[in-house]
Amino acid sequence: MSSASTMTASTEQEIATVAEIRAHFPALDRIHAGERVAYFDGPGGTQVPRAVADAMTSYLYEHNANTYWEYPSSAETDAIILASREALADFLNATSDEIAFGANMTTLTFHLARAIGRRLTEGDEIVVTELDHHANIAPWTALARERKVTVRSVRLIPETGQLDWDHLERQITPRTRVLAIGAASNALGSITDVRRAGELAHAVGALVFVDAVHYAAHAPVDVRLWDCDFAACSAYKLYGPHIGVLYGKLDRLDDLDVPKLYPAPDNSPDRMETGTQNHEGIAGAGAAVDWIASVAANTLDRRSRIVLALEALHARNQPLFTNLWDALSAMLGVRLFGPPPNAQRTHTVSFVVDGVPAVDVVRSLAKRGVFATHGDFYATTIIERLGQSKDGVVRAGLACYTTDDEVNRLIAGVQAVAGR
Ligand SMILES: Cc1ncc(COP(=O)(O)O)c(C=O)c1O
Repeated sequence: MSSASTMTASTEQEIATVAEIRAHFPALDRIHAGERVAYFDGPGGTQVPRAVADAMTSYLYEHNANTYWEYPSSAETDAIILASREALADFLNATSDEIAFGANMTTLTFHLARAIGRRLTEGDEIVVTELDHHANIAPWTALARERKVTVRSVRLIPETGQLDWDHLERQITPRTRVLAIGAASNALGSITDVRRAGELAHAVGALVFVDAVHYAAHAPVDVRLWDCDFAACSAYKLYGPHIGVLYGKLDRLDDLDVPKLYPAPDNSPDRMETGTQNHEGIAGAGAAVDWIASVAANTLDRRSRIVLALEALHARNQPLFTNLWDALSAMLGVRLFGPPPNAQRTHTVSFVVDGVPAVDVVRSLAKRGVFATHGDFYATTIIERLGQSKDGVVRAGLACYTTDDEVNRLIAGVQAVAGR
């Protein structure tokens, strides 16, 4: 897996400095309660560099049209959409005709599941996991009602924040038709070896769908290496606008019995897209990929720059994350969840302060200009298994613009709550 395992500090000098990166994000100038805002809400949606907003504005002001018509702004729209497909293809290591856009990952996954479900019959099985966001559970459990398929769920081990692999192996049977699995948990940061899981599923002839929404902002996605049939991510988690992206192996996309309008294009990837698309969002998604690539030295091809940038950003944030983890762990009454910093994980941490509901912790942090999120983040089953359903947990995620100083402000803010 191309993942945190390949991240080394040696690449760090080849990327832009944090100060250079921060200069691209107007949101970082925001002052709240007399403090410059420190954004730890990236796992719920990152801030956006100027280049992304510029691409969207430029599209609306200069190229706005519908597709496939014979006049310049329509042709420009077609070209912009194709350029964004190519950018996302580089981002995921796919080809441009394997990239479809949609409202968000949840909508795309419901759409895909309905299409796959049309060929499923009673007694067929789908495997989901307790470690997943419900956007990668509900679309599949809907098929239990609609197609009478059986949904089996792989257990999470709450103590480690990892999947129970023995259970996974037992849940995959000769009747398995789909494995729906997440590459990284948006609640715990744990990274799952989706290639290994996919091999088990492919061995019984099942399709493999990977939720890469949380993973994609933190490590290079490589759908070829993962050998998945489908994968989805969301541009707004990776410095882009609110739009979803679906990858499908070309022959899989061609083969889907997808709900569509008879007169709409039937070629892939267009056949996956319903109605008129969010053209400005697509322009912004492509610009977000180009922006990520621009963080790395400009001497390589775009895919190599994306990989270098994401790996080096992860390496740069590793000591910040370790500092955060160690400081929170040392606080009396603070409990952390998920794998330790040296494990295969993203730089997203969830924790509770005993006796203080998560909502009160984040309100207190916000008063210091530190923005963090709380609740279950729709990773509801994880939070249940951790016994935290009543008050939820606090979640803080590091992003490309996070500084050491901001991490120390977060630590001080939690300390102030825990020390009350
Ligand atoms: C891991 C994961 N999967 C799926 C989703 C849903 O994505 P979207 O909001 O694009 O539907 C999220 C959003 O938080 C997520 O973090």
